[in-house]
Amino acid sequence: MTTRLPIAGRAAPKPVDPSLDLEAEIVKLKREKNAVVLAHYYQDSDIQDVADFLGDSLQLAQAAATTKADVICFAGVHFMAETAKILNPDKIVVLPDLEAGCSLAEGCPADKFAAWKAMHPGSLAVSYINCSAEVKALSDYIVTSSNAEKIVRSLPADKTVLFGPDRNLGAWLNGRVGREMKLWQGSCIVHETFSERKLVGLKERHPGAIVLAHPECEEAVLRHADYIGSTTGILNYAKSAPQKEIIVATEPGILHQMEKACPDKTFIPAPPEASCACNECPHMKKNSLEKVYLSLRDLDPRLEMRADLLEKARLPIDRMLALS
Ligand code: 13P
Ligand code: SF4
Repeated sequence: MTTRLPIAGRAAPKPVDPSLDLEAEIVKLKREKNAVVLAHYYQDSDIQDVADFLGDSLQLAQAAATTKADVICFAGVHFMAETAKILNPDKIVVLPDLEAGCSLAEGCPADKFAAWKAMHPGSLAVSYINCSAEVKALSDYIVTSSNAEKIVRSLPADKTVLFGPDRNLGAWLNGRVGREMKLWQGSCIVHETFSERKLVGLKERHPGAIVLAHPECEEAVLRHADYIGSTTGILNYAKSAPQKEIIVATEPGILHQMEKACPDKTFIPAPPEASCACNECPHMKKNSLEKVYLSLRDLDPRLEMRADLLEKARLPIDRMLALS
């Protein structure tokens, strides 16, 4: 078990009556407002348990594209809720904590991305979904970790491709596909904390264990992985693997679904270099069950975006959904 450290901004912004049964209230609010809760696997387990749909970034975007609900409560981070809003300009999309960002999106400002593109005229810009709507609007294709390889393979071989903002995912894709995409030098603060040295020590102590890793990890960690894929890919691999001990090199929120699906297996979070809880995503963990309740009760905080930005950012997302 990882120890959870206090996370800045975790307290609910408004007082919540402590006697309320939040799970029951959330069920009631979802029915009253025809709302759906979409949640990522890195959310706290109590949030995962009230979600109508759980998935990786691609599945969550697909669910957002097809939902019949009037309100989407997106229990994830800002770029995910923004994607849901881009796909549903006329629906209400709420994010329990509007400050739930992402180091990859923050490390790729649109003006700098535009300047990078301008240095490579005629190139194709492929962006990982973990980026702002402004960067999406500047991109030809959006990808997630579950469809990136397929989409990059489909690109014309004679084109220069710019890939951002995750250099680790980009380098892994270059190796898989045999391309030399130019890489934006961004990274995920969570996936870069995993320690190769400690992972090797862990494997020595658990010789029968397999290692499952997210492609946002550095190459030094990925080279020890038996499987590399999106959060859903990792979960599915864990379910079908015959091994009983599984080392997981991604945010440990996903262990909740693994432990539910495979009570006979032991899941071991890959250790960070420091003795800290820095393998937990501080952005994802800004959301809490109280904030999910408040966002459904008050339909706030909402995602609001300019119409021209919604339109421009939608094009590369639609291309991705068509290719997935
Ligand atoms: P997935 O699409 O694999 O769920 O990844 C989302 C993410 O932010 C990983 O850090
Ligand atoms: Fe962003 Fe990393 Fe958190 Fe995923 S785990 S949301 S990539 S900071």
